[in-house]
Amino acid sequence: MRKLYIALLLFAASLDAASKYPVDVSYFIADLKYSKEHGVKICELQHGILSIFRGDMYLHGDQGLVIPQVEQIFAEFPMRKWAVNSHLAFRPLATLFKNSPLWTLLPTPWQIFEDPAFMQAAATPPQHPDSIDSYQGMVFARADVFESYSDFCKKYPGIIVAGAPSFPYWIDKYKMSLLFTRDPVVAKVKPEWGLYPSQYSETLAQTIMSDIPADRFVIKPRGAFEGNGVIIVAKEELDSTLQYILQKSDALKNDKDKSYNHWYSDRFDSFLVEKYYGSDEISVDTFEGKTYQPTMRASFMLIYNNNQVEFRFLAGYWLIPFKSVDEEGSLNECTKAYCKVPYFTKATDEVVEDVKNQLEVSMSRLYQHMLEG
Ligand SMILES: Nc1ncnc2c1ncn2[C@@H]1O[C@H](COP(=O)(O)OP(=O)(O)OP(=O)(O)O)[C@@H](O)[C@H]1O
Ligand SMILES: [Mg+2]
Repeated sequence: MRKLYIALLLFAASLDAASKYPVDVSYFIADLKYSKEHGVKICELQHGILSIFRGDMYLHGDQGLVIPQVEQIFAEFPMRKWAVNSHLAFRPLATLFKNSPLWTLLPTPWQIFEDPAFMQAAATPPQHPDSIDSYQGMVFARADVFESYSDFCKKYPGIIVAGAPSFPYWIDKYKMSLLFTRDPVVAKVKPEWGLYPSQYSETLAQTIMSDIPADRFVIKPRGAFEGNGVIIVAKEELDSTLQYILQKSDALKNDKDKSYNHWYSDRFDSFLVEKYYGSDEISVDTFEGKTYQPTMRASFMLIYNNNQVEFRFLAGYWLIPFKSVDEEGSLNECTKAYCKVPYFTKATDEVVEDVKNQLEVSMSRLYQHMLEG
């Protein structure tokens, strides 16, 4: 009886509502700003399958720190695993999986469902659905492969869909931002934000400034990558910038800068605005000791097993902008991550440790909200 009571208490501590997913292994990346004053502020959170860790290999050599750990953590669950080769945005991860005896890498998703070994694993339902070890196999693929999670589970009961709890938030940054409003612990690590119609009006900038009081704003498309469409702007330039990007002109179409020309063909009828947060500035030895405004790319995994959530931090390093804070340039040039070699630098152990601790608390909570659906 006492044992049962303790077990119930543990369960109550881990999730507020029942999990829609019996078990899971998810891999995430976050781009974030970090300062002693404001702590972690997450610019972007997404499924790791979409992300590139060029900076990790550049700074840490060989295969970097991230992907070997991803492979090792998956290997803690020694069942057969399937992945779609072309779905892995970061090619060195595909190479790691290709060389691992636990993984089968196939060119297309439907080849997985035709693999006799998959069909055999899929046909055996788990004896203990809450325990990862009870399953026969795992699939690691993009969300669009799985039309319906519940249909998939009925059809292939022996298989875990790694990352399934994050699929409802796939690509659309608005949906992900909404998830951060679920409670104060997760809201604290997200810059204040709002969703606005993609239609210019003379009052739009004023509305934004009264919703989100700030000196600088970040304008963002809901579903773009690689910084396309992301514009960091001072409040004095908010109105003219909105007018330029929301009224589709030839000048916008022909603008050489992807932060701007993206808006000519943005497919959503609304867009996001966030409050701008800076990181504590750093001096970068490999860039003649100049001072930069960095963004951290951090990666971690979250595991749901035996009704418990487990957070595993993988690594964090700085992405630096194209220009230092002392050079003349736009806010995009001086504060937005540039994401190309050699614009990366290591973060101190102290900063990484603090980011890790703040992510452990907030991302475990956010993951619980994903599990609850
Ligand atoms: N709220 C914010 N405050 C300060 N800087 C921000 C904020 N949001 C984004 N940035 C900067 O803009 C960069 C790009 O933003 P974000 O990561 O949201 O877009 P993205 O298009 O998904 O980028 P990528 O695919 O290159 O990671 C961030 O790495 C960061 O440097
Ligand atoms: Mg990003």
